[in-house]
Amino acid sequence: MSEKKKIILDVDTGTDDAVAIMTAYLEPEIDLLAVCTVAGNKPLYNTTENTLRVRDVLQADFPIYRGCETSMVSTLLPSRHAVIHGTRTKVEGMKEDVNMHTDFLDLPASKGEVEKENAVFFYVKTLMESDGDITIVPVGPMTNLAMAMRVEPKICSKIKEIVLMGGGYNRTNTSSAAEFNIWFDPEAAQIVMESGVPIRMVPLDATHQACINTDEVKKLQAMGNPSAAAAASFIAHRIFAYSQLQPMERLDSAPVHDALAVCAVAHPQVLKDVRLSRVDIDISGGFADGQTILDPRTFTDKPRNVNFAFGADRDFFADWMLNLLATAAK
Ligand code: BDR
Ligand code: CA
Repeated sequence: MSEKKKIILDVDTGTDDAVAIMTAYLEPEIDLLAVCTVAGNKPLYNTTENTLRVRDVLQADFPIYRGCETSMVSTLLPSRHAVIHGTRTKVEGMKEDVNMHTDFLDLPASKGEVEKENAVFFYVKTLMESDGDITIVPVGPMTNLAMAMRVEPKICSKIKEIVLMGGGYNRTNTSSAAEFNIWFDPEAAQIVMESGVPIRMVPLDATHQACINTDEVKKLQAMGNPSAAAAASFIAHRIFAYSQLQPMERLDSAPVHDALAVCAVAHPQVLKDVRLSRVDIDISGGFADGQTILDPRTFTDKPRNVNFAFGADRDFFADWMLNLLATAAK
């Protein structure tokens, strides 16, 4: 077996983040060094507690670092002020009673604790002491990582790669222009885009091509281990929410966005139509705030900075997820 890939996963858990944590822990090709939490899908307290719950169900012992409570800048805008307490629950045109993520994952309250150090300082220390062999996998807003880059810019040359879930070219989900993770903290995302670190971006264009369906949920339910059962219930919840809010081509299916980024770390071939592109983020605070701006021109003004995945291999992803969750502790 090739050497394991060392990763730090950054989450705002979250139903799909939960499956990302499970698969990152179970994947034999990955050495999960730590999980950092951030505000996003829910306020930081919830995303951290949910992450602790997932660690318990896995019977795992990786360290968890609590990170930033608010985005770097955007909550200062009056139009964004509500976000300071976590994600919006009301989205115009959406039914209020359907939410992609419950406040707390339906798992027993956590027994463990987070580390004392804040995630931002953990990044700085760990990366500066590393041999440049750590991949960062942000699957929530990128506040922690961008803050660490501002605190100690030298970490940028120490990061092997950033494989992130976020953005979209032909797809959006939070506004007419933006995907959620980027929308929540656009300034952080732009700091990462300009960091000079090699970036692979797993956007909605890819995750919407890798939906998990109810047949696969049934297989997870039948596995007879608590992690697979929990994953089954989270994905079932997502399928219901997507059918109400954002129906996919196959109605009884939903993307499990964040797990696709984890899969791409271990098995890059799961991503299809990956094109090295110039990507920037709109930080104007207007209609397009948080938009993923991908320069389609042959001659771009600035160097190409992101390997952007336009597609994904659905069957590979589904098999990978199911095979891994079958190995979880009984
Ligand atoms: C992203 O937003 C969150 O709701 C999900 O956890 C995922 O990381 C998808 O846009
Ligand atoms: Ca997430």
